[in-house]
Amino acid sequence: MIEVQNVSKSYGPVHAVKDVSFSVQKGEILGFLGPNGAGKTTTMRILACFMPATSGTAKVAGYDVFDQAMDVKKRIGYLPENPPLYMEQTVRDYLRFVAGIKGISANLVQQKIDRALELTSTTEVSQRIIGKLSKGFRQRIGLAQALIHEPEILILDEPTVGLDPAQIIEVRELIKNLAGDHTIILSTHILPEVEQTCDRVVIINKGQVVAEDTTAGLTHKLQGVSSVRIEAVGDPEAIKVVLGSIQGVAKVTHTAGAYMVESMAEKDVRGELARAMVKNDFTLLSLQSVGMNLEEIFLQLVKTENGDGRIEA
Ligand SMILES: Nc1ncnc2c1ncn2[C@@H]1O[C@H](COP(=O)(O)OP(=O)(O)OP(=O)(O)O)[C@@H](O)[C@H]1O
Ligand SMILES: [Mg+2]
Repeated sequence: MIEVQNVSKSYGPVHAVKDVSFSVQKGEILGFLGPNGAGKTTTMRILACFMPATSGTAKVAGYDVFDQAMDVKKRIGYLPENPPLYMEQTVRDYLRFVAGIKGISANLVQQKIDRALELTSTTEVSQRIIGKLSKGFRQRIGLAQALIHEPEILILDEPTVGLDPAQIIEVRELIKNLAGDHTIILSTHILPEVEQTCDRVVIINKGQVVAEDTTAGLTHKLQGVSSVRIEAVGDPEAIKVVLGSIQGVAKVTHTAGAYMVESMAEKDVRGELARAMVKNDFTLLSLQSVGMNLEEIFLQLVKTENGDGRIEA
């Protein structure tokens, strides 16, 4: 349904997106995950025909986003990073206006507006002025305008931004319910969003795709590494040397009062770690295995050059 091939986009000297390729199958929810400045919005704008790529091709529902933009626009619903709302209009007037732009025939407008309001749980605010609504409600109206013409494909740029926890759950449920009939690509920098909502994930960092897999597959792929968390009393530098000298240990870090020991999964080093601590007279307070969750995988994949796993914008 969506085919992106070798797409690059530069803003003058800034290479926002570099040689990005991925695809989304019909009925699938793809999570486009990356830290700030990764190139998510840029890619989505290209897919929504908001601006052309510098090079490469992208097809949506079989149509080229550059050569056949009108055909693409008819088939997509796009929620931009900043929804295009008219602050002085009421919600209903705004949606009527959007319905007109999207070419919904007059006899269907009322029905489609009601459906969009219902799907986004905004019926109660339909007579309110948009500018006076809270950020979360404005975000939902943004979603309503993306859905109103029942498009085959939804392109949602950070759909849960600004929502409270209850609304986040609701919007995630809504997105999941729309899948199947709709093909959805959503961007996010929130990991649980991908884990809970998406079938597949493309991870992007500094304009490049660093991983593409099913949510489960990605976790599995990186299970070659496991970690042990240790709390102990003693000189941190000396403890790091002792732990690091054990065979099978790949890396030791000391943060927030605990030591994280990374080792290869095939080798269970816990016994040796405990023995080495005691032998060297350090007081061992706790020692536990921690599986890698998607968050750690993400950090591993987007590690910066200085190697400390910090995400930089
Ligand atoms: N109009 C522009 N002119 C110049 N540089 C831009 C422009 N838009 C984006 N960029 C740059 O392109 C890069 C990618 O930005 P983009 O907005 O696509 O990232 P993003 O993944 O959506 O980030 P965020 O999570 O903060 O929304 C950034 O370095 C950004 O500064
Ligand atoms: Mg963005």
